[in-house]
Amino acid sequence: MKHNILEICYLIGSVTFIMGLKMMGNAKTARKGNMVGALGMTIAILGTIFLHEGEVSGMIYGLIFGAIALGTIIGWMTAKKVQMTKMPELVSMFNGMGGACAALISLIEFNHYYHSEFPKVVLNAAITGAYHPPYGFLIAVFAGLVIGSISFSGSVIAFLKLNGTMDKPIRLPAYNIVNLVVLIITFGLLAFMVYSGGIILTNDLQPSGIMIYALLALALIYGILFTIPIGGADMPVVISLLNSFTGLAAAFGGFLYDNKVMLTGGILVGSAGTLLTVIMCKAMNRSLGSVIFGAFGGSTAAAGGPDVKGSIKDIQVSDLAVLMNYSKKVVIVPGYGLAVAQAQHVIHELELLLEERGVEVKYAIHPVAGRMPGHMNVLLAESNVSYDKLVEMDDINPEFEQTDVVLIVGANDVVNPAAKTDPSSPIYGMPILEVDRAKNIIVNKRSMSAGYAGIDNLLFYDPKCSMFFGDAKKALTELVAELKTME
Ligand code: TAP
Repeated sequence: MKHNILEICYLIGSVTFIMGLKMMGNAKTARKGNMVGALGMTIAILGTIFLHEGEVSGMIYGLIFGAIALGTIIGWMTAKKVQMTKMPELVSMFNGMGGACAALISLIEFNHYYHSEFPKVVLNAAITGAYHPPYGFLIAVFAGLVIGSISFSGSVIAFLKLNGTMDKPIRLPAYNIVNLVVLIITFGLLAFMVYSGGIILTNDLQPSGIMIYALLALALIYGILFTIPIGGADMPVVISLLNSFTGLAAAFGGFLYDNKVMLTGGILVGSAGTLLTVIMCKAMNRSLGSVIFGAFGGSTAAAGGPDVKGSIKDIQVSDLAVLMNYSKKVVIVPGYGLAVAQAQHVIHELELLLEERGVEVKYAIHPVAGRMPGHMNVLLAESNVSYDKLVEMDDINPEFEQTDVVLIVGANDVVNPAAKTDPSSPIYGMPILEVDRAKNIIVNKRSMSAGYAGIDNLLFYDPKCSMFFGDAKKALTELVAELKTME
């Protein structure tokens, strides 16, 4: 009976995960989707704790609920406090914890199997080769350990890169070859351990689990080596890839415990992470190989850029206010700088002010604007910008021709024409917002510095383009104040 109720809890958990994910695909239902998934997870966890077969002592319950309470408080407080721009960091830390959990499960289950559940005689038989533990069990344990550990150490490095502690990519000599060799040794040892049962005899004929700790160390080292050469700005793609690893490691855990909700959850995380990685790479027109093995997105000087000829002109706030006030249609292009400056509230104020004056205002959303998927959508939702004002790239591009002013705020690469015109550019082939089709182009940024790709932007030299220099929040606040003084 208990077992049947538990299975129903797992079924509810699995179905709510899928429903939650589906709802997260739409900004309007995303919040609810998150809650639905969390509810399913709560049911599955409580079911596991209270409907599990076998006796559990009061002390174990105390430990479980103590750990849940501690994790909930830390997770809640961190998520509440985190700034939007620090979100990828938080995701990488949470992901690392998931990987560490999967690796710990493998370590514990391996020791459990050999040292407590397994009768000594069978242990001896296992050592001498007369008995072999089930291959499925060994594969799940070792693969979970390796993938979880890679995900953990890789995520820690990703976290350090994103928070600026490791500000430069570290490229050891022949790092791609070194990494490949470490990877081959790791999987070679894994295969040998599955073949041999995973333990060896010491000189005094005692079983030793040294190999599993060697495997753990190799996997942790590989996670570090794999992540250190990659540029900090490429980390969102790497985190999404590591996230898919964590999902896979959790799925191995589900296989180990014959726990269907863990298996389903792991597979969903694994496939969602993989899909997101592919989507991000596609939107940037880059291959996953170039992210992992390439030298892109590291230092800003690395990528080079077009030969810049011509001059730039800037615009004063009073002239810009007049231009916008008398426009019929304004399209705002938000980018990474908007998030850095936290200018989402003032940009919404600007939008409302212009609309009061009969100006039509829309936001053009590039799929990889900012530093994480959906970055601009989430940022603008924070300041209550209506969802239907956010227009996807393919839909807004044909509208630029009828646009009087396109106001680019802290965006750079996503409007760089080199992506269409310069085959030698590292962003060549990336679809862009075709802002040069608008009648007037205004770019707000602090200087002429490059964006993520580290390349110059010829758009700024376009005769139709004027630079509105300054920190986005400060400059837009001045613009709003100026507009307010006008009839
Ligand atoms: P970027 O090309 O990175 O340009 C951002 C610009 O914002 C910079 O040129 C910077 O110029 C300006 N800026 C910084 N702080 C500012 C502030 N306080 N006020 C005003 N401007 C400020 O941004 P983008 O156009 O959004 O493009 C995103 C890039 O990230 C793409 O290359 C994309 O491939 C990459 N990427 C995206 C993702 C996802 S999933 N979104 C993941 C990985 C990589 P100044 O320093 O002169 O101010």
